[in-house]
Amino acid sequence: MKIVQIASEAVPWCKTGGLADVAGALPQALVDAGAAQGLRVEPALFIPLYRSVREQAQKRGLELVDTGVVATAPFGLGPERARWMKIEGAEGPPVYALDAPWRYDRARLYDDEHQRPYDDNLHRYALLCRATLEGAPALLGGLPDVVHAHDWQGALAMMYLRTRYVRQMHRAAAVLTIHNLAYQGVFPGELRHTVDLDPAAFHMDRAEFYGHLNLLKGGVSYADSTTTVSRSYADEIRTAQFGCGLDGFLRARARWLLGVVNGIDTRAWDPKTDPALPHHYDQEDMSGKLACREALLKEFGLRASIGQPVLGVISRFAGQKGLDLVAELVPHLHRLGAKLVVLGSGDAGLEDRFRYLARTFSRNLAVKIGYDGPLSRRIYAGADILLMPSRFEPCGLNQLYAMRYGTVPVVHAVGGLRDTVVDPGDAALMRGEGTGFRFEHPTLQGLVWALDRAVRMYRHAPPAWGRLRDNGMRRDSSWTQSARTYLELYQALRRR
Ligand code: ADP
Ligand code: GLC
Repeated sequence: MKIVQIASEAVPWCKTGGLADVAGALPQALVDAGAAQGLRVEPALFIPLYRSVREQAQKRGLELVDTGVVATAPFGLGPERARWMKIEGAEGPPVYALDAPWRYDRARLYDDEHQRPYDDNLHRYALLCRATLEGAPALLGGLPDVVHAHDWQGALAMMYLRTRYVRQMHRAAAVLTIHNLAYQGVFPGELRHTVDLDPAAFHMDRAEFYGHLNLLKGGVSYADSTTTVSRSYADEIRTAQFGCGLDGFLRARARWLLGVVNGIDTRAWDPKTDPALPHHYDQEDMSGKLACREALLKEFGLRASIGQPVLGVISRFAGQKGLDLVAELVPHLHRLGAKLVVLGSGDAGLEDRFRYLARTFSRNLAVKIGYDGPLSRRIYAGADILLMPSRFEPCGLNQLYAMRYGTVPVVHAVGGLRDTVVDPGDAALMRGEGTGFRFEHPTLQGLVWALDRAVRMYRHAPPAWGRLRDNGMRRDSSWTQSARTYLELYQALRRR
């Protein structure tokens, strides 16, 4: 089975968030799931050749090799020709990067240093989608059986597949995964003429949205199946509260709308071997975690006594993540007897607010504004508790990494957080059930209530805390089950 995966970011080449982890890990997970069933699965990943892709390849001593496959996109402002390069020697299934420096050779993936989206984003991702369909047969050595695209950046692939490529690729199953419905790729309607959109696609049942061009909506309308990254989120996006204006459309029009929870790459995320950690540990011997905690406190210039838990936050600073609640929590840290380290960047107002709080409450809070992969790992390892008060969360990988590193998540019970963190209540937690603490209402009161429970158990019931931590580390967050589910879906949709 030949599978095209189209994504706008993928580890280790380019990353702003969890989509990169998923797109980077899924191809190999599909191969493994296929092998377990005696099925030959041949995925390939198609991404833009951003500046960071070149840098990451170089850093690894890998070469970008010209495949000789050139794709032409017949766009309104003049055809664009771009070349598919292969990241030679990359681990796992093939990764192809689209060489179009005028579109992708930039410092950041989606926006400039003032966080203004690039004004040619429509064309940047139209080109990716078009060139993928154009180049795939030559690169795969045959027609694809499945075209699986991710988020609005991949959505045009669904539309092109069922209009411009319908004759050639009518057998291919079209799957679109929504990692975040809050980002839909909405552009002025008249721009449709510049990306060779089929006229029929600009219709209220398709990509038209109040006169605008809505790529995600168009993609859903053409996909054979729309998936999202947890079961709860699949339900939530059909409600007005979480539907971001598309709930009615999703209820009426989305075919096979499924929630498939994300896995994590358990080899790349392992406290026993993680090269970013100063000390290593596993369930049998957790002493390394304590040493990681000491190192983390030192790195951040904080002090904590034995009964004082270290709380961690690792996040994009975006409205979704409920960081305003974390900011409100800061003055209460003293009473709670907890220390907090925050790593994140994004919204400038939030960045300023956390800088200010760190100056004012310097004994209890330390903040690093920025994006830092190795540091994020030291926090997953060194913290006792990870806070995730997201207002909505399609899946969330943070809490999965935290559990894997023996850090107990305290989360708002929403989306993937609800599905992956088990909180059976204090009595059951004391008996050794569950993996974390959840609160139902995204308010300061809700957060403090759950955190209070966590801190009390941490301080007064170390054996119960140890079991809780253990349960999280033991949780199967691997891709095994979800990759199997995607394969089943592909097989069910394949047109004979
Ligand atoms: P989202 O994709 O919405 O940002 P996820 O929890 O799915 O949320 O994934 C976030 C990913 O990005 C995780 O791998 C997390 O470790 C990483 N991450 C977020 N912020 C930072 C940061 N400031 N530095 C390093 N890694 C970060
Ligand atoms: C999005 C979501 C996050 C999810 C990630 C990967 O960024 O915000 O919840 O884990 O995609 O699917």
